[in-house]
Amino acid sequence: MRDLTPLIRPLLFRLSPERAHHLALLAFESGLAGALFGAAEPAPEELAQRLFGLDFPNPIGLAAGFDKDARVAGAMFRLGFGFVEVGTVTPRPQPGNEKPRLFRLDEDRALINRMGFNSGGLDRLLERLSDRRRGAPRSHASRGVIGVNLGQNRTSEDGVADYEEGVRRAAPLADFLVVNISSPNTPGLRDLQRRARLEALLGRLLAVRERCGVRPPLLVKIAPDLLPEERADIAAVALASGIDGLVIANTTLARPPSLKSREAGEAGGLSGRPLFRPSTELLAEMHRLTGGRLPLIGVGGVASGEDAYAKIRAGASLVELLTAFVFEGPALIPRILSDLARVLRRDGFRSVSEAVGTDAQAPLR
Ligand SMILES: Cc1cc2nc3c(=O)[nH]c(=O)nc-3n(C[C@H](O)[C@H](O)[C@H](O)COP(=O)(O)O)c2cc1C
Repeated sequence: MRDLTPLIRPLLFRLSPERAHHLALLAFESGLAGALFGAAEPAPEELAQRLFGLDFPNPIGLAAGFDKDARVAGAMFRLGFGFVEVGTVTPRPQPGNEKPRLFRLDEDRALINRMGFNSGGLDRLLERLSDRRRGAPRSHASRGVIGVNLGQNRTSEDGVADYEEGVRRAAPLADFLVVNISSPNTPGLRDLQRRARLEALLGRLLAVRERCGVRPPLLVKIAPDLLPEERADIAAVALASGIDGLVIANTTLARPPSLKSREAGEAGGLSGRPLFRPSTELLAEMHRLTGGRLPLIGVGGVASGEDAYAKIRAGASLVELLTAFVFEGPALIPRILSDLARVLRRDGFRSVSEAVGTDAQAPLR
């Protein structure tokens, strides 16, 4: 793969972050970016893993929010991502919050966003997934593993019904589903993480899935801003309900005092480097609280093979990233994969699964 990021980044970073993202999506969608960057080499074999009955060629995925409408998943697989989480998609299209709503904190290697679930809606997203499936019908491995991240419309009277609709309609086309109850940008959404509401929500969603005829794994994405008793409640409900895993974590409302950028005061969710430590500590805690019995996807501030390795040792079976991809560009992904394979080997692990949770008792010493 050619690393053209040093040439392209100065141009893109002169634009507003949202315009730069829009152009990047167009470049990937049209095939232009793919032609310029080329394809990644296949990932080292020891990074492959079977989880939830799905074959992941490697554990590094694109986090939700970059490809909200499933426009560029194919291009992301060619860059080396082992899986892609598309969405958050809401049942009906909605514009999201007023612009500006995305801020780059260059000195902090971070972003703040208050996009507010801008979404082309389920119809369009599912059409794209079904076109993709028709193009490569053999197995999910040949077309890449795609998770669909589900949300609710801002104006819905019954938000839970929106998630039910998402599960019912996306189940036949998604390799896995993620219930996003942790975006800080939809009022009241995070309250669904509270024990009684979470129990009710998951009960309803699993019942819907039972009636679908297909049974894609169902995961729940949680916030990093949880009190200790909320964390324990979520772990207990997750285990008792029979969901398949947790995605840890979404963006944070916290503003660490270390932030240097002018934009640090913007409202919204903070992602990137400052999120690495708190999200990894939460990941390790959830691994402990669930006794390692529930697969976890670790996300937040990953920007290197060592970071991905730290997530895995803290308890992640899979790792996702978004903000570092924005800053570093496509060449980051092959670099992470080869570095991750190297550090696993260095420490005597023959596979990702051997390393999962080995540091959960004392992460990031
Ligand atoms: C611009 C932007 C949009 C996002 N949109 C979503 C979203 O729609 N749904 C979601 O679950 N998470 C969303 N996220 C959160 C990411 O999926 C991820 O959890 C978070 O950014 C932490 O990972 P990172 O530090 O690697 O970016 C978004 C993040 C960013 C920066």
